[in-house]
Amino acid sequence: MNKNYALVTGSTAGIGLDIAKELAEKGHNIILTARREERLKDISTQLTEDFKIHCDYVVADLSEITAPETIFQFCSDRNYSIDILVNNAGYSINKKFHETAEDEEENFLRVLGISVIALTKKFIPGMLDRKYGKIMIVSSLASFAPPSSGWGALYGPVKTFVNRFGDAININYRSKGITSTNVCPGFTVTEFHTASGMQDAMDKVPAFMKKDSQSVAVGAVNAMMHGKSVWVPGLLNKFLAFICNVLPASLVIRMSSSLAGGRYE
Ligand SMILES: NC(=O)c1ccc[n+]([C@@H]2O[C@H](COP(=O)([O-])OP(=O)(O)OC[C@H]3O[C@@H](n4cnc5c(N)ncnc54)[C@H](OP(=O)(O)O)[C@@H]3O)[C@@H](O)[C@H]2O)c1
Repeated sequence: MNKNYALVTGSTAGIGLDIAKELAEKGHNIILTARREERLKDISTQLTEDFKIHCDYVVADLSEITAPETIFQFCSDRNYSIDILVNNAGYSINKKFHETAEDEEENFLRVLGISVIALTKKFIPGMLDRKYGKIMIVSSLASFAPPSSGWGALYGPVKTFVNRFGDAININYRSKGITSTNVCPGFTVTEFHTASGMQDAMDKVPAFMKKDSQSVAVGAVNAMMHGKSVWVPGLLNKFLAFICNVLPASLVIRMSSSLAGGRYE
């Protein structure tokens, strides 16, 4: 049995689940991880049956500081070599900054930021030994935009931070056979908005601005396998990323409010 694996965080739903399916379809063995065990078990069985690969799962809550080590030990104990690391798990805090308890932000930063660094740190030595590694960071179009007022003050900033972390990985390790890809989706239909208490706001977003998670996953895997440093799904999102990079923040805020209200109020 091939002992080389792709590890996908947040693979019980949405973009992470579709990335796991896409990688399995391409013949990669898969390690799933998230909090909901029943779903992990069912998805694991399904991927094994559908794609004749080996799939295993480990339950972990990435808001817990010990979670990256739990995931790493799980893989080490079973001799699973991780050649592909997909840092995808995420959510948003749908509250004003002054309304949250401090640990809400700490947990949030652990899931979307610290765990990305910790997992990369743990798995990169094996990739260096094998002179091969593909890392994906599922970031967001929000990483290019001014931080939002209504949809969680730290969401955009932590996504900008992980983008820069991905850039640092490329600068340090591309010459050693390891690449990192920042995937920056715009509005994507998944469980994200319900899980984050933002489904009403998502319902108001015009359909032409929304993408399905399967097409995002297919493009993301393709970009990662080709070693691209950044990939933005869809022409409209590419255009929005471009204008966020060239226009003044005040103009971006006015344009965003007229296209999809709620982000800056
Ligand atoms: N949907 C969008 O419009 C959109 C746009 C831009 C970027 N993104 C990014 O895309 C990524 C995936 O989001 P999605 O849209 O696919 O959302 P989703 O359908 O809600 O899936 C989120 C995944 O993250 C896992 N997760 C959440 N909290 C976790 C925790 N504490 N520990 C471990 N796993 C956790 C969930 O699994 P469990 O609940 O089972 O733990 C689930 O598998 C996120 O990083 C998000 O920021 C999404």
